[in-house]
Formats: sequence, C-alpha cells, structure tokens
Amino acid sequence: MEKIKVGVLGATGMVGQRFIQLLEGHPWFEVVEVAASERSAGRPYAEVMQGRWKVQGEIPPRVAQLMIKECTPNLDCRFCFSALDSSVAGPVEEEFAQAGYAVSSNSRNHRMDPDVPLLVPEVNAEHLGIIPQQRARWGSDGYIITNPNCAAIGLVMALAPLHKRFGVNKVIVTTLQALSGAGYPGVPSMDVIDNVVPFIGGEEPKVEAEPLKILGGLDGGKFISADLTISASCTRVHVLDGHLESVSVGLNHKASPDDLIETWEEFDPLSNQELPSAPSPPLIYRREDDRPQPRRDRDEGKGMACVVGRLRQCPVLDFKFFVLSHNTIRGAAGAAILNAEYLYKKNLL
Ligand SMILES: NC(=O)c1ccc[n+]([C@@H]2O[C@H](COP(=O)([O-])OP(=O)(O)OC[C@H]3O[C@@H](n4cnc5c(N)ncnc54)[C@H](OP(=O)(O)O)[C@@H]3O)[C@@H](O)[C@H]2O)c1
Repeated sequence: MEKIKVGVLGATGMVGQRFIQLLEGHPWFEVVEVAASERSAGRPYAEVMQGRWKVQGEIPPRVAQLMIKECTPNLDCRFCFSALDSSVAGPVEEEFAQAGYAVSSNSRNHRMDPDVPLLVPEVNAEHLGIIPQQRARWGSDGYIITNPNCAAIGLVMALAPLHKRFGVNKVIVTTLQALSGAGYPGVPSMDVIDNVVPFIGGEEPKVEAEPLKILGGLDGGKFISADLTISASCTRVHVLDGHLESVSVGLNHKASPDDLIETWEEFDPLSNQELPSAPSPPLIYRREDDRPQPRRDRDEGKGMACVVGRLRQCPVLDFKFFVLSHNTIRGAAGAAILNAEYLYKKNLL
C-alpha cells in the first residue's frame, strides 16, 4: 500500500517529537513535512532538535534531514497532525482546514467548538457525523478533529463504560500530573523537586468540561452534553510521564465492585477494527493494592492503554479508584494518531 503523506505542525515541541517517534514505521502514514515557528523554519529538523529531542531513541534519519517549514498551508500533504502551542494553534488550524487539509489537533483551541469532534474512537465515534457541517463552514473538504486534554482522557476512558452501564451523575477527581505535560523545558526544577504544585493554569475547567462533550451525544446536528457534574483539582508532581488521577463517582444505578471491574474489563469497542495504534484492551484493571503507578504502568499498550486500580466503596459518592494514562502518548500524540487511523478506516482521509 502507498502510504498517506502527513505533516506535523509544531514538530519541534514535546508532543511534536512524540508524533515523529510514534509515526516512524507506521504502516499507513509517512511524515513528509515538519513545520514549526519562524524561529525553527528553514533549518534541518536534526539541527533544530539538538538538545531538544527528549523521547527515547534517535531521531528517525529520514525525518532528521527534513527542512522545517513555517505553518502555512502549502505543505505537500493533505493531512496534518497539530502539536502547536495553543497561543497560535487556533488560527493556524483554521487556515489549514479552509485550505482543504484535514487536521488532527492536540491543542485546546477548537475542542469545544460546536462543529468540531472531540474524538475518542472507543467512546464517541458517532460524533464524526458533524464533519459535513464543519466542511460547509470552511467551504472546503478540510476539517479539524481534536483529542482531549491529557488529564481528561484517562478520566473519560474510565468513566465511559461505567456511564453507559450504570449512569454516572457526579465525579470528583484530583490529578497528579507529570512534568512532560507542561512542554519543554516546562516547570523550573527549583519549583518542582521535593514539591507538589497545586495549580495548573486553565486545566481544571478543561477536565470538568471536555468529558461532558465526549460522553454526550450528537442529535440533530448538535452535540448534547452528558448529564453529569465533575469537580476537578489539578496538581503537578515530580514525575516525568504519566498522569495519575484519584476519582470518586456517583452512579444512577446500584452496582457492586465486581460489576464495575467486569464492565472495565469487557470494554474493547475497537477490537475488530484492526487499527495499528488501538490498544487491546484499552482499559486494564490492576488488582494489587499499590497500582497503578506512573513509572511501572504508563507504557501499557505502548502507552495507549489506561490502567485502573484500587477500586473501593466511597463513603461520600458511590465508588473511588485511581486511573493512569500516558500524557504525551494516550493524552496527546498517540490519541491523535489513533483518531487519524479511525478516520482512514471510515474513508474520511
Ligand atoms: N505536553 C502534553 O502532555 C500535552 C498533552 C496534550 C495536549 N498538549 C497540547 O499540545 C500542544 C503542544 O504542546 P507541547 O507540550 O508539545 O508544547 P511545546 O513543547 O512548547 O511545543 C510547541 C510547538 O509549537 C510551536 N510554535 C510555538 N509558537 C509558534 C508560532 N508562532 N508559529 C508556529 N509554531 C509555533 C513550537 O515551535 P518552535 O520550536 O519553533 O518554537 C513547537 O513546535 C499544546 O497546545 C498543548 O496544550 C500537550
């Protein structure tokens, strides 16, 4: 099969380099364009990334010699992944969509737009039904799809099967978020070593709002928000990769702990789709008292699976548990690649 040419916007950042790493050897996609700010444009990727390549392994040689371009829609591909800083992602992604490119974005800018899918293929694939409406807005074949905030994704994956079977009505979540979630160089070492920072600017509203869109429906050309309330507290901790979250949930229907574990363990809606990045299973329940842990569990399913554990009765709501997800893979680049694979299977690329 001839591979689909793809570009990476924001290819020099933390998430951008994850795209380059994860797309190397991808059976369907080939990175032919890398783009970033005018600070990086006009220089080979390897030169700009000296001292900035932080993910495991070397820069793939074919990408290393690509010349970085500016983020203007004259790239030699029809599909782009976006890992752009949110200060610029909004208008740049719109420009690409208007010019007929499909864009799979990690940035927050368009996630809550009324005609942009906030896609988790295991959960709300039917939201892609909005794409014709979005195309009409741009007056082109282009469109933007987005993946959730890196702390919202683990929460949504754990909630989705519970919501479907028992109805979730209340959620209280406290996150312990990894340093790579702040980009590079991120939080100054003297602020975070021997410390926990109980504030991540703008994060809590995203964790409270995005799951409602994802867990909700699409009806008559409109997204209908799920009927539940989330209260989030977000903290930054001294961990490199992997967001751990402590979650309490209230349910509409009575359930036993075994019912919840069975529901998580049976959840595998993409198992027959043959998508290269889809983890099977996407949710793993660990029965040990002290799991999940970021260092030990974040690479499950090549960083695409979410790991749940420590399910207990909650004396305030109904149940409480922990969930862990890899923030730059399942919470960013890996999620956008899985979305693209799903689009390809549905003939939307
Ligand atoms: N890190 C995570 O875990 C995570 C998870 C989910 C979502 N996200 C989102 O993903 C996006 C990227 O995050 P990151 O952590 O990778 O950030 P980052 O390391 O700071 O990288 C930002 C990228 O944006 C480019 N850029 C900045 N200003 C630009 C401009 N004016 N024009 C064109 N390109 C510009 C940078 O290029 P230069 O190198 O040339 O400056 C770089 O490639 C953000 O929107 C973030 O919120 C991050």
